[in-house]
Amino acid sequence: MGLLGEGITEVIAVTKDNAAPMGIIVKPGMSPRMILFKGSATVENILKHGWVTANFVSDCYLYPQYAFSNAAPSDFSEVFVGGVMMQRLLGADAWMGFLTRVLHETEETYYIELMPVASEYIREDPRPINRGFNSVIDATVHATRYVHSRDDSLKMLIEYHLGIIAKCGGPREREAGVLLKEICGL
Ligand SMILES: Cc1cc2nc3c(=O)[nH]c(=O)nc-3n(C[C@H](O)[C@H](O)[C@H](O)COP(=O)(O)O)c2cc1C
Repeated sequence: MGLLGEGITEVIAVTKDNAAPMGIIVKPGMSPRMILFKGSATVENILKHGWVTANFVSDCYLYPQYAFSNAAPSDFSEVFVGGVMMQRLLGADAWMGFLTRVLHETEETYYIELMPVASEYIREDPRPINRGFNSVIDATVHATRYVHSRDDSLKMLIEYHLGIIAKCGGPREREAGVLLKEICGL
């Protein structure tokens, strides 16, 4: 699957005029899938327009930024792929374009099949492993739930990851940590 490894790959999903972190699920012998909770702009756009691009980024700050605020029009570049005008993140290291199909709906989610129609590598240099980067992703996942539930166990997880960001992260990870603290009121 090229850019997508087996398991769940955390990308910035771009749909019409919108960006948000989302996971893409890859299992052997199956097309890639997304499980999308109802209520997001991402799911509404996919249902309406039938496409999504997966954007691979090495700037960790983009995960909390796009989880909690809207993208600007200047963040996107238009790409005509699969017979459709899609958008991708201008700052992506790499991206893939997908046409989408709803496979299944539950009370809370849509299960979406992704049919790849394009992919492009823009930045070739590898991203070094940094625990701070990974903790920004984890803390952002917990923060998207914490802002609604104010659950103490999530707060503890976020604080654990903020500690790793402070210890192992570079300047951009620390900026993302400050943003997450503000968002969570910590
Ligand atoms: C790393 C990461 C992965 C996420 N994966 C998913 C996902 O697979 N499905 C989902 O519905 N929400 C997921 N979320 C939560 C959405 O990003 C969040 O609800 C976001 O606010 C939706 O934005 P939107 O309304 O602009 O689409 C994820 C969040 C993070 C930080």
